[in-house]
Amino acid sequence: MKGLILSGGKGTRLYPLTYTRAKQLIPVANKPVLVRVIEAIRDAGVDEIGMVVGHTAPEIQAALGDGSRWDVSLSYIPQHSPDGLAHAVKISRNFLANDPFVMFLGDNVIEGGISQLIRDFADNDWNSQIVLKEVENASAYGVAQLRPDGSIERLIEKPAAPPSNLALVGIYMFDHHVFDAVDAIRPSARGEYEITDAIQWLIDHGHSVYPHIHRGWWIDTGKPTDMLEANSHVLEETVPCVAADAEIDARSTVDSRVTVQAGARIVNSILRGPTVIGQGTLIENSYIGPFTSIYHSCQIRNCEIERSIILENSSVIDIDRTLRDSLIGRNASVKRSAVKPSGIKMNLGDHSTLWV
Ligand code: TTP
Repeated sequence: MKGLILSGGKGTRLYPLTYTRAKQLIPVANKPVLVRVIEAIRDAGVDEIGMVVGHTAPEIQAALGDGSRWDVSLSYIPQHSPDGLAHAVKISRNFLANDPFVMFLGDNVIEGGISQLIRDFADNDWNSQIVLKEVENASAYGVAQLRPDGSIERLIEKPAAPPSNLALVGIYMFDHHVFDAVDAIRPSARGEYEITDAIQWLIDHGHSVYPHIHRGWWIDTGKPTDMLEANSHVLEETVPCVAADAEIDARSTVDSRVTVQAGARIVNSILRGPTVIGQGTLIENSYIGPFTSIYHSCQIRNCEIERSIILENSSVIDIDRTLRDSLIGRNASVKRSAVKPSGIKMNLGDHSTLWV
């Protein structure tokens, strides 16, 4: 069995963060989503992984290298334009050869890993296994309509009137028959080779596609609200740990569900978990509330933050309102200005949003 991770795409829904960074490298609970995907595949016993990459290839390659840090072997497969998930399969044929494989979208996070799914696929003679999850807004996803016996009747990509609330989770298993499917299908109305069309082709041509219904949480981190939601779920599951060289002074209160990473300093502050404070970050005279991830080398002074993600090298200083449900990028600065006239001043990147 091989692994195929899809890390190309445009990431437009996460602008402005993804103007300058691959969305799959944005951390959730201080670990890039893509690393979580690699670990999930490795933990299921698959160590030969193809990584489909687009225009952010150099950044992804610099971050992951040959994969040896995670005990896997990574091969990079360039996709010259993001022409769809089935297109990504098509261009990976040489790497995949005739082996069965698990395909995982590089921006998806799922509860409980995929070991059982991989075992089920190996133990049965299905040509494909897909994962479904009940969702509220099914029209935003690929949707499956099942027959009364639980088999798949049809799949539709982002339907205006969804026939069910079962969305396709970004994890799929295939054998080599999928190559016939991706060769046969044509681009959809939005110009992409859709994986739903390829799976429908398999069903229509008598191949077995087994639908597994996932009961835990699953998040496609496509939008900022999804990132915050994924961050909360993952923090909830994180086993807390305070690094030996983290400094927490006697005036601070750090509850038992807080992770403090190496070299972080907590001075006269209150930290409520689940929360993670990154390497070398300073928290001073502040309150950091639940479901917050502050990445490495940040400075947080004289402020209150709850349910937020702050990326590396950023600072939030002297803010007298609680910062909540916020996603702050790299090298960003949020601070009070003493310069008159007072009022709100901003240097906001393209496609940014500010709520006041
Ligand atoms: P999407 O979230 O569907 O697409 P996107 O990354 O272009 O995002 P947006 O809609 O915000 O512009 O992609 C799901 C995953 O698959 C993501 O990790 C990117 C990857 N992908 C590819 O590798 N190749 C592709 O052709 C496409 C469409 C996506």
